[in-house]
Amino acid sequence: MDFMVDKPLLDRRYAAIGEKSPLFYDEPLHLVKGEGVWVYDSGGKKYLDAYNNVPHVGHCNPRVVQAVTDQLATFNSHTRYLHENLVSYVERLTSKFSDPLDMMILTCTGSEANEAALRLARNHTRAQGIIVTNCSYHGNTEAVAELGFAFMPEAKTTQRVLGFTPPCTYRMSDHDVSVEIYLQEIRQAITQFKERGIGLAGILLCPAFANEGLINSPPGFVRAAVDLVRAEGGLFIADEVQGGFGRTGKWWSHQWEDVVPDIVTLGKPMGNGYPLAGVVSSAELVNEFSEWGMYFNTFAGGPVACAAGAAVMDVIEQESLIDRAAEVGDYLAQKLRSLQGKHEIIGDVRHKGLIFAVELVTNRAEKTPATKEAGKIVNAMCREGVLISRIGTHDSVLKVRPPMVFEREHADLLIEKLDTCISEGGN
Ligand SMILES: Cc1ncc(COP(=O)(O)O)c(C=O)c1O
Repeated sequence: MDFMVDKPLLDRRYAAIGEKSPLFYDEPLHLVKGEGVWVYDSGGKKYLDAYNNVPHVGHCNPRVVQAVTDQLATFNSHTRYLHENLVSYVERLTSKFSDPLDMMILTCTGSEANEAALRLARNHTRAQGIIVTNCSYHGNTEAVAELGFAFMPEAKTTQRVLGFTPPCTYRMSDHDVSVEIYLQEIRQAITQFKERGIGLAGILLCPAFANEGLINSPPGFVRAAVDLVRAEGGLFIADEVQGGFGRTGKWWSHQWEDVVPDIVTLGKPMGNGYPLAGVVSSAELVNEFSEWGMYFNTFAGGPVACAAGAAVMDVIEQESLIDRAAEVGDYLAQKLRSLQGKHEIIGDVRHKGLIFAVELVTNRAEKTPATKEAGKIVNAMCREGVLISRIGTHDSVLKVRPPMVFEREHADLLIEKLDTCISEGGN
């Protein structure tokens, strides 16, 4: 069944929230129902969701729905009362982190989590400067927008944030395989902060480099960057908003690196769509921050939010979704690499667990970004009933990041459709 754009609803949306509010696809979808890895549009057409990480344990997961519904029908409020849900959820979640990461601040969004993390780091170090990648996105509050070199205007004018080029093994020529030249940019940023008189508060990175095009950084790079920053008194903030909760085949994407962060931020998949996010750090940093200024966030960590979070963890553990992400992820990656053998346009395939980058190039030798082609293929995939998206500095990297209940049969369908769409040039 073909789908038609719901033009009246689109026009009402434009009038209600503006034409620039982002929408996926040339012909925007009107989705009305979800179940597991499937979503349905208003005309009844079914799509394989190979993109969304918010419905982490599957769209409308019955266990999460039940937990939220039961708690909503019992009691919901803010966190200035004792409640078992909050305490047991935080105890359970922090047990998944290495020492000394055993205390939390709960928030509603990833942006708020990063904002709180900045405040923790700046309060602890009494310094302001933060280093990020030069194609980063970490959220939308004013302070966090300063970190967003991908497309936030505040990043262009701030004095408190500097970006460095993240190394991608696919694009590194043999002579610069050494991480030294990239670390040099970090050294320069530290010097600049000193010259500006604001000092170094830390480095904030998504260890999966999800918004940077899911680049593979050379082994040891993240560790070396963090060592540099720590030697100058700065902290390491790991943004696990996309890479967390088993997505990469480990609980946390920083576990792929030989380093324990000082602060970790969480969000998106945490409540399976119920707003739930937070900051995990040491008791030392959290207590120091709370003594300096009270942190209160009305909706964060309420009984319903924590019920959602606990149900997500139940499903992850009981259905062994992290091992499954590793296993199905390897399976799909292998199939994508076979497609690479068939289609010249696939320059590189990268993945960790269930997060994939398929980098498209118009010329393999030159690695010329295939931006236009990527856009056409993403839209053609949608028409074929498979949802994916694209990222990277040139928007030429297909991004595949399905709910964690994605199985081999879903991977097979994705490959079949991608093969068709690439063969037909996205037409
Ligand atoms: C890596 C990363 N950090 C933080 C955020 C911000 O999260 P939120 O939209 O929940 O504020 C995002 C959102 O896309 C993100 O990708």
